[in-house]
Amino acid sequence: MAFDIDMIKAVYAQITERVEAARKIVNHPLTLSEKILYAHLWDGNPSKVFTRGKDYVDFAPDRIACQDATAQMALLQFMQAGKPKVAVPTTVHCDHLIQAKIGADKDLQEALNTSNEVFNFLGSVSNKYGIGFWKPGAGIIHQVVLENYAFPGGMMIGTDSHTVNAGGLGMVAIGVGGADAVDVMAGMPWELKFPKLIGVKLTGKLSGWSSSKDVILKVADILTVKGGTGAIIEYFGEGAKSISCTGKGTICNMGAEVGATTSTFGYDDSMERYLRITGRDEVADAANQVRAHLTGDPEAYANPEKHFDQLIEINLSELKPHINGPFTPDLATPVGEMTEKAKKNDWPMEVEWGLIGSCTNSSYEDLTRAASVAQQAIDKKLKTRAEFGINPGSEMIRYTAERDGLLEVFEKLDARIFTNACGPCIGQWARAGADKQPKNTIVHSFNRNFSKRADGNPNTHAFVTSPEMVAAIAISGRLDFNPMTDKLTNESGEEVMLEEPTGMEFPPKGFDVEDSGYVAPPADGSNVEVVVAPDSKRLQLLTPFEPWDGKNITGAKLLIKAFGKCTTDHISMAGPWLRYRGHLDNISDNCLIGAVNAFGKETNKVKNQVTGKYGEVPATQRVYKAEGIPTVVVGDHNYGEGSSREHAAMEPRHLGVKVVLVKSFARIHETNLKKQGMLGITFANENDYDLIQEDDTFNFIDLENFAPDKPLTVEIVHADGSKDTIKANHTYNQAQIKWFKAGSALNLIKTQNKS
Ligand code: F3S
Repeated sequence: MAFDIDMIKAVYAQITERVEAARKIVNHPLTLSEKILYAHLWDGNPSKVFTRGKDYVDFAPDRIACQDATAQMALLQFMQAGKPKVAVPTTVHCDHLIQAKIGADKDLQEALNTSNEVFNFLGSVSNKYGIGFWKPGAGIIHQVVLENYAFPGGMMIGTDSHTVNAGGLGMVAIGVGGADAVDVMAGMPWELKFPKLIGVKLTGKLSGWSSSKDVILKVADILTVKGGTGAIIEYFGEGAKSISCTGKGTICNMGAEVGATTSTFGYDDSMERYLRITGRDEVADAANQVRAHLTGDPEAYANPEKHFDQLIEINLSELKPHINGPFTPDLATPVGEMTEKAKKNDWPMEVEWGLIGSCTNSSYEDLTRAASVAQQAIDKKLKTRAEFGINPGSEMIRYTAERDGLLEVFEKLDARIFTNACGPCIGQWARAGADKQPKNTIVHSFNRNFSKRADGNPNTHAFVTSPEMVAAIAISGRLDFNPMTDKLTNESGEEVMLEEPTGMEFPPKGFDVEDSGYVAPPADGSNVEVVVAPDSKRLQLLTPFEPWDGKNITGAKLLIKAFGKCTTDHISMAGPWLRYRGHLDNISDNCLIGAVNAFGKETNKVKNQVTGKYGEVPATQRVYKAEGIPTVVVGDHNYGEGSSREHAAMEPRHLGVKVVLVKSFARIHETNLKKQGMLGITFANENDYDLIQEDDTFNFIDLENFAPDKPLTVEIVHADGSKDTIKANHTYNQAQIKWFKAGSALNLIKTQNKS
């Protein structure tokens, strides 16, 4: 049994008291999101009202899930915390490091050949610290979580932005950076700005070619890629109840594409059915006992304009199938309106590939609906004009789909069945000819369709649609194919039409699997040895950062004065560097290489004040480190925006940068810097940014008196000997100053463990 029923029962045991306490305090009927948030406060019973979109609140998540790319650094850090076990149930899923090329077996073997040391590392750390481990080929993190771990009313965090998929089973599930996950693994609270709430009222019922995917494609159309930022999207209404649990998962999954913190649905019969068919009667029985607390209060849904910050209404009976794209998931086109739009925009009409699967759309229902279309093609003597690829979401889905003949249907159309893994969804697709960068169109049932995401080709126009529409379009070979009106000519020259897809929510014979790919941790993992080869290029055990020596930082040289936008991508690039996510020293060779130097306006070219020569940022910084010279990075507004990746804070720290002085920080990056023991400060007067010159030396002359709310004084010594003395603000509280003194938050946790 993979799920932790005792933990779930413990959550339900306190939910009544906490929800009632919250209702009294806020003094109005509660939405589901509020119930889950208030029931998961770190301090226990709610005692104050939090302002949505404003207050930062400490939460106590119930679970953590990590995927193989992000888990490496998260677990390397956790190993530094000196804890014998993770504090909350945690799982690791090997799904990102598997390329789709030839087909499942060969591709999986190839992944094992190239990334085995990473998988072995993740497996052994999991064993040692009580973490559930899902082997390569076991499935995609979010599908596996939905099948095994998600539970109504729960709160989880995961080191992947589509963690939000678990909202399909009534959770508040949120994607975070590795550093946040490590805190929770180590028994610390998790901080989040209390989200705003967007209500989506669903009426009517889906039918014909319309599916749950179209709900979120429509929501993306309405909200755009930024419209959900800082908010939880909560779906409710009769229409919501009519959607299957996995369909709800699809909708929540793509909430990430509108920037939402997460999305969720209230507990209903569809969720109960899903829990039972996936072997979790105990969870369903426990949930039924607190059913009223696992959905919003009826009064909140009756007057949604009063209880949500924004309200959207969608009538499912009128919802048309959509195709969104290319290059952005919010560019929506209803099927039937594509001809004109594609011509106008010069999108290639011929479709080369149709891809089904990913964490977004690989449920049994999805596969049966797509297979029902594929079967018609066989029956009506149609051939697929585009190539066809399928990524099952989990081994349980794959095994069951094979047993029930679904995969055979696709194979009859020459579909390639790829490994149960992310594959093309995360650019792990060795697509023949993509390197020549031809302009072309593909359709897929994934979530993201940014330029280059699937095959690395910037000229691939990727469109997102439902699995059944992918099947229909792949058969027709045309982007503007409308199965509701258009005829196709079969091998006998006859004109035929595709009928509406039919699907099954669950397999009639139930789900089955021989080897799910799950490895349970031993009860006592203390003797498990975690092996990292000293000469490994991909993994490196971390050495704790040095604590602060208690002295003012003096004689610090300017490494770079970043000009304009400097996101976490500029600080720690992705792409080919993903390979080194588990090797801090190697990945540090990308440190700040994307930042534009204010002097010369070039990237990755800075003056080395030791040699007087210009060089690359990481190499220059390594010279300063070797000479024992502290350095400062200066930045503009919103420094460190973008992803929450902790590498952007760890790399400069590892290379010996001591201070990041900017006009303003993106908040998550600022916190990450603090966690890694860096001094992240802001110009009290932002015009002082203009005082910084290329050969400057910095003295932080009152750091010895570092205290909350007390600005620091910075002496800037210019090359001609002249000086400017400025003030810098900071947001370190007492606890965060302790992190700084200890050298990092993890160093502090470790000392606390010992005392
Ligand atoms: Fe991400 Fe894998 Fe899903 S890449 S979007 S978790 S299929």
